[in-house]
Amino acid sequence: MASSRLKYLSLGVLVFQTTSLVLTMRYSRTLQAEGPRYLASSAVVVAEVIKILTCVLLVFKEHSDVLRQEIMHKPIETLKLAIPSGIYTLQNNLLYVALSNLDAATYQVTYQLKILTTALFSVSMLGRRLGVYQWLSLLILMGGVALVQVQYSFLSWPSEPTAAPEEDAPSAGSQFVGVAAVLVACFSSGFAGVYFEKILKESKQSVWVRNIQLGLFGLVFGLFGMVAYDGERVRESGMFQGYNTVTCSVVALQALGGLVIAAVIKYADNILKGFATSLSIILSTLISYFWLQDFDPTGVFFLGAVLVIAATFLYGYEGRPSPNPSRA
Ligand code: C5P
Repeated sequence: MASSRLKYLSLGVLVFQTTSLVLTMRYSRTLQAEGPRYLASSAVVVAEVIKILTCVLLVFKEHSDVLRQEIMHKPIETLKLAIPSGIYTLQNNLLYVALSNLDAATYQVTYQLKILTTALFSVSMLGRRLGVYQWLSLLILMGGVALVQVQYSFLSWPSEPTAAPEEDAPSAGSQFVGVAAVLVACFSSGFAGVYFEKILKESKQSVWVRNIQLGLFGLVFGLFGMVAYDGERVRESGMFQGYNTVTCSVVALQALGGLVIAAVIKYADNILKGFATSLSIILSTLISYFWLQDFDPTGVFFLGAVLVIAATFLYGYEGRPSPNPSRA
C-alpha cells in the first residue's frame, strides 16, 4: 500500500537525518573550539527560510495558485498553526535555558520524558489507544535511551556548545531551573507534535502547505528571537558571522529535519517518531565508534541499546493484527 510505503520511507529518512545531524554536531564541537562561533538564533532563522522555500517549490509543482488560495485566503486555517509554532519556539528557548544550567547528560536523560508526554497527548487529544505491551515498550524505550544518553550525550540543537557549564558543576539552584525547563519542554514537545498531527490528519490541506504556515510563524518568532538575543552582535558582525561549511551542513540538516518530521507526523505518527529518533541515536554511536573512533561504549550503554531495540520490537508486536480466529 502506498501510504504504508510512505510511512516507512519517512521514518527511514528521519533515522538518516537525525543520525547525520547528531554526528555533524558532534564533529562541529571538536572543530569549532577556536574562532568566532555562529549565532544559534541566526541558524534557526536560516533553517526556517530553507524549509519554507523548499515547501513553496514542492507546492508550486502541483499548482501555482495554491499559496494564495490556501494561505492568504484562509487566515483562520493559517492562524491555527501559530499555536504549535509558538510552542516550538518556546520549547527551543526552554531547551537553551536547560542546557545553560545542566550538564548535557542530565539534560538528555531528562528530555526523554517527552516519549511519555507524547503518548499521553496522543491518547487524550487523538483518541489513540495503546495496549499494555505498548505502554510497557514506551517505558522501556524511555529507560533505554536515558541509559544510552548517560554516556553518549551530545549538545542538542539549537543551543551553543559553550552553553553547557562542563567545567563548573552546576549549583543546586541552577540544576532546579534546568530540570524545570526540560520538564516544561517535554510537555510542550508532546503537545505541539500531537497538535500538529491533529491538524494534519483532520484536514485535507497538504503537509507542505501546513509546513509553510507553520514555518511562516516560526520565521517571525525566530527573527524576533534573533533580534532579542543577538541583536547587538548581528548589528556588529552580521547574522552570518562564524558560519563555515559545517555550520551550513547543520543548518541544512536541521531544515531537512523539519520537512521529514512533518512527513513522519503525517504518514506515521509522533510515537513512531520517538522510536525512529531513539534508534538513530544508537546508529550514530555505532558510527562514532567504528568510523570516528571518538566513543568507547560501556556496559551501561550496551544495556540501554538493547532496551531500545527490544522496546521497538515489543511496540510492533502488539501492533500486529491478532491471527484470524476462523482459521484456528
Ligand atoms: O524534541 P521534538 O521532537 O519535539 O522537536 C521537534 C523539532 O522539530 C522542533 O525543534 C520543531 O521546531 C521542529 N519541527 C519543524 N517542523 C515541523 C515540526 C517540528 O521544524 N513540521
